[in-house]
Amino acid sequence: MKIAIAGCGYVGLVTGVCLAEAGHEVTCVDIDRSKVKRLTQGIPPMYEPGLKQLLKRNLEQERIHFHVNGKAAYEQADVLMIAVGTPQQADGQADLQYVFQAAKEMGIAAKSGAVLVVKSTVPIGTCDQIDRVVHQELGRNEPLYIASNPEFLREGSAISDTLRADRLVIGAETKDVLDRLEEMYADFHLPFVKTDRKSAEMIKYASNAFLATKISFMNEIASICERTGADVEMVAEGMGLDHRIGPSFLRAGIGYGGSCFPKDANALVQIAGHVSHDFELLKAVIKVNNHQRVCFIRTIQERLGAKLEGNRIALLGLSFKPNTDDIREAPSIPIAHDLHQLGAELVAYDPVAMRQAACELPDSVQFTQTIEEAVKGADAVCILTEWSDIQLFPLHSYKDLMRQPIIFDGRNCHSLQEAEQAGVEYHSIGRRPVSPIFM
Ligand SMILES: NC(=O)c1ccc[n+]([C@@H]2O[C@H](COP(=O)([O-])OP(=O)(O)OC[C@H]3O[C@@H](n4cnc5c(N)ncnc54)[C@H](O)[C@@H]3O)[C@@H](O)[C@H]2O)c1
Repeated sequence: MKIAIAGCGYVGLVTGVCLAEAGHEVTCVDIDRSKVKRLTQGIPPMYEPGLKQLLKRNLEQERIHFHVNGKAAYEQADVLMIAVGTPQQADGQADLQYVFQAAKEMGIAAKSGAVLVVKSTVPIGTCDQIDRVVHQELGRNEPLYIASNPEFLREGSAISDTLRADRLVIGAETKDVLDRLEEMYADFHLPFVKTDRKSAEMIKYASNAFLATKISFMNEIASICERTGADVEMVAEGMGLDHRIGPSFLRAGIGYGGSCFPKDANALVQIAGHVSHDFELLKAVIKVNNHQRVCFIRTIQERLGAKLEGNRIALLGLSFKPNTDDIREAPSIPIAHDLHQLGAELVAYDPVAMRQAACELPDSVQFTQTIEEAVKGADAVCILTEWSDIQLFPLHSYKDLMRQPIIFDGRNCHSLQEAEQAGVEYHSIGRRPVSPIFM
């Protein structure tokens, strides 16, 4: 099949290389000239495990192409996909300007009978709106079938998530369109959920909102554990073994971030509001998430003082989660700003996200190439992302390198026993503090 994709971000690019790998002829289009130039040379614009190799192979075999102008690719494509951003507006709603821009370009160029697939996360009813824009506003006479195919990949494991997804959700108005999209994905050998367009759009929002709810729920349990002496890690293990609950997304921490959960939760609150439904549960989920960072700072202040002047604090991990250089809505950014405002001297380390983070962090933050350099001479360490090198960094090394070995672990990377054996002071989420003075 000939496939054209608008948007070479995480979703568009990963989908493009995976469909090329499956033997399709793929053209990815992006309005960002420098991104397209680098992609043509085989350089992905973001860090994503396995992406570079897959991109290189499919470029060499001429199954994938990149362009700034999509007209020719849109004219020839059997399937056109929209994978552009849907960022959050000031009021929490999804900004659909990029989606409609791409839809119009495709609506003008697409051949008769092609399928236009919306992969971007869009409010319920957007595919219907695109249908109206294409066939009424643009006055298109030939059919262009609009379908929803929301994306569930996670940054950091995007390739394997795409090739080994739990399910592919397709929403379309006719069986023929559903069958054509099933055929496009046939080589992936994945289970399909075939439904109508609105339900497909809702499945995406409901899934992200539910996962965000699990995280905030565990963070609330963690706060109660801290006050009652229970251990949230053991509570999560005990809960997760119940197959009705499952073990994933039960980790307490400094809260979710990234380009999806915060924006999609806010957008769903807005979507509900538009149909006069006050989504109180989801509003509480968002509030709890934002509060986690405040609690983390409060713990640091309780230990080091209300003002942090004279304290050198090492921040370990800046990306919103491991295996990505994405720092969008990463908890590290507001935490760093708060610590800076309180007077702390900050030094930061992340294996891949320091260049991106430098644009968002206070100018005075120093960056180091190793954990050792960041930690050396520090008065406290804040673990903000559970990268494997940070998790594997031996706790006794903090004792050897720091001025005083005080660790605030926002991701519960270590066991309390390890901390006790290493002789460090260790504050984590939802567990008792460990310190020679507490023992
Ligand atoms: N990032 C994720 O983990 C993830 C996962 C699932 C779903 N999603 C959703 O998928 C969508 C895309 O997310 P992303 O993270 O890939 O976005 P992104 O911001 O990384 O990339 C979007 C790209 O679209 C390009 N673009 C904008 N207008 C265009 C146009 N008219 N034609 C061609 N290109 C255009 C931009 O230049 C940019 O490169 C969003 O709706 C997002 O919510 C993202």
